[in-house]
Amino acid sequence: MKRFEGKVAVVTGAGGGIGSAIARRLSAEGALVVVTDVNTEAAAEVVSGIEAEGGRAAAMTADISNKAACFGLIEQAFALRGRLDVLVNNAGINRRGNLLSLSDEDWDVSFAVNLDSMFHLCRAVLPLMIAAGGGAIVNTASQWAFIRPPTTLPTTRPKLRLPPSRRTSHATMRRTGSA
Ligand SMILES: NC(=O)c1ccc[n+]([C@@H]2O[C@H](COP(=O)([O-])OP(=O)(O)OC[C@H]3O[C@@H](n4cnc5c(N)ncnc54)[C@H](O)[C@@H]3O)[C@@H](O)[C@H]2O)c1
Repeated sequence: MKRFEGKVAVVTGAGGGIGSAIARRLSAEGALVVVTDVNTEAAAEVVSGIEAEGGRAAAMTADISNKAACFGLIEQAFALRGRLDVLVNNAGINRRGNLLSLSDEDWDVSFAVNLDSMFHLCRAVLPLMIAAGGGAIVNTASQWAFIRPPTTLPTTRPKLRLPPSRRTSHATMRRTGSA
């Protein structure tokens, strides 16, 4: 039996490079993979590839910089099979610039996609995982959160805040006996 047989996994940013590889691997391990991305065509292409390899996947378009879209995505993914076992918070963006050249929008969308989305998606999925007695959440960070280049302001810096949020999710599940 494959390791993820019967499980449902959501991978954000799964139309992109790393996300599509994660989605294909989870599918090869037996999971039904929800391939979600703001880019509808990219997500559909990844689903076609998975199905061509004999796997099962569903494409869902969602802009995870939006809180309601995060909760809607989890609701829609859960409805597929009445379960949600794995959440991979992979989607991320990198707006390049320095303190003066970056716009307010660059700053806001970087926090919304790279950090806030994980907060909302974790809060949407945790009650379902706790009720089911377990689950797994993977948050993708970036080495750019730790590097301080002299001339640019890395907009992936919000990912510096990931480790505490990961510990918090785990502690929440442990307290309820789900991890
Ligand atoms: N590629 C690297 O060298 C590298 C290094 C360190 C960390 N990372 C991290 O790995 C993750 C994936 O990186 P990648 O190289 O595959 O990036 P990528 O650009 O190939 O893929 C990112 C995907 O996220 C999607 N996305 C962007 N904004 C979104 C939104 N608002 N809602 C939903 N989806 C959205 C994009 O459409 C894209 O398909 C990112 O979190 C990135 O920060 C990448």
